[in-house]
Amino acid sequence: MTARIFVKLTLGVLGVLAVALTAVDFLVTQRAQETYVDTLRRELVEKGRTLALTLPAQPDFLRLAEAAGVRLTWVAFDGRVVADSEASPERMENHRTRPEIAEALQGRTGSSLRRSPTLGIRFLYVAVPFDRGALRLAVPAVQIDAQVNAIRRDVLFSTALAFLPSVVVAALFARYVSRRLGAIIEYARQLAEGNFRARLDHSGRGELGILSAKLNETSEKLEFMLDRLEAEHTELEKLERVRKDFVINVSHELRTPLASIQGYTETLLDGAIHDPNNNLKFLAIIRQNAERLARLTADLLTLSRIELGQQKFKFAYYRVNALLSDNVDSMLPLAQKKAIELAIERLSERVEVFCDAEAVHQILSNLLDNAIKYTPDRGRVSVGAQALDDDRVEFYVRDSGPGIPAEDLTRLFERFYRVDKARSRALGGTGLGLAIVKHLARAQGGEVRVESSVTGGSTFYFTLPTHDLGLAESGAVQQELTPL
Ligand SMILES: Nc1ncnc2c1ncn2[C@@H]1O[C@H](COP(=O)(O)OP(=O)(O)OP(=O)(O)O)[C@@H](O)[C@H]1O
Ligand SMILES: [Mg+2]
Repeated sequence: MTARIFVKLTLGVLGVLAVALTAVDFLVTQRAQETYVDTLRRELVEKGRTLALTLPAQPDFLRLAEAAGVRLTWVAFDGRVVADSEASPERMENHRTRPEIAEALQGRTGSSLRRSPTLGIRFLYVAVPFDRGALRLAVPAVQIDAQVNAIRRDVLFSTALAFLPSVVVAALFARYVSRRLGAIIEYARQLAEGNFRARLDHSGRGELGILSAKLNETSEKLEFMLDRLEAEHTELEKLERVRKDFVINVSHELRTPLASIQGYTETLLDGAIHDPNNNLKFLAIIRQNAERLARLTADLLTLSRIELGQQKFKFAYYRVNALLSDNVDSMLPLAQKKAIELAIERLSERVEVFCDAEAVHQILSNLLDNAIKYTPDRGRVSVGAQALDDDRVEFYVRDSGPGIPAEDLTRLFERFYRVDKARSRALGGTGLGLAIVKHLARAQGGEVRVESSVTGGSTFYFTLPTHDLGLAESGAVQQELTPL
């Protein structure tokens, strides 16, 4: 491909050279011929006049012609050829009508360049008048042609020589252009194959440099777009996995209590209702599972409302210490049942946060419920807050419970994720509590995190803003559907 470009460019330059040489040749031939014929004509006129003045009565034409280097003809006034250095006068026709003779017979110098009917070759004829008619001198045109050709050869040779550097430069340029085009074609091929990482050397400010730079720009954009598409694709795949997992989890979580309710109901209907030892126990199990179903559906509803942005928040400024006290008070009976010490670590200053009190209540209840639920009897649970900076306050719920293994920490806030499934279920958990906590914190402009070790208990943190972030004005708080 590029070889073809190189050949075309070189042939083009050579074509231009050939046209130029032909034009030069044509002009040089014309000019050289005119100049040479003119000079020769003047020389012949000179010679003719001198000869005419010195011509003896009975001239030796052969010798005279040889000395002058011309063909010599003497034509009488009536046009009859008296003498000729190359043909016998008897055989020559009357010359009265020959253009140069006609002129000379009228007393003027005449000349013409034409073919001789006598000898059959081209001659330059010059005729001068003299007292006995006309004296004609002729030189064969081949002599003129030879001179002109010599000049032509010289001029053509020097012209070609002058063109040589330009031919070399043109060939080098053609090679440069074809190499760069070759690189561009190779690059375009790589782009066509989908390799957008390749880059083209785009040095130079010429059209090829600009073309290369533009191609690089295009492939950078393509690479960027492709990367984004891939990222979006991966994200979509992840979301689809999350959605499927969610559907499987929900149906599984619903099936278990439903199966239990169905089983015990059938047992009761089959006669166990009359068994005083078991009937109340079975009814209690049925109620327990019904409560579990109600909790599960309520939690799922809460989650989906927050995720769809349908949850309405009533934002206002609340004092941190008041929030802590109100929420801890409602959990005291639960802690007392397990003889767990529940302590509040209040802030010394009067710090306020901008939040929805009901949402904060839900967050703290969930975290305190977990802390009390998973901490063994006579343990300790403390709840408090600390100002992180001017904009954020961080709340925490700390327990002296069993802690959570490091490998579970990253997934802890996922829906249905439970460290010990059987234990959580036995304690009535649905595995949705922490997911709700995370979504509620984010909906108020906060974040959640956890620190835990299997020896030192767990601490759950969430932040709240101290100022209005404009979340209420921006409409419903949209939550993205993520597994975390
Ligand atoms: N304070 C804690 N100490 C130890 N493990 C905890 C603690 N809090 C949560 N976990 C673990 O994290 C899991 C997820 O907690 P989450 O609150 O989301 O669900 P749950 O308590 O099992 O059920 P739910 O809160 O919906 O009733 C729990 O099952 C438990 O294994
Ligand atoms: Mg919980």
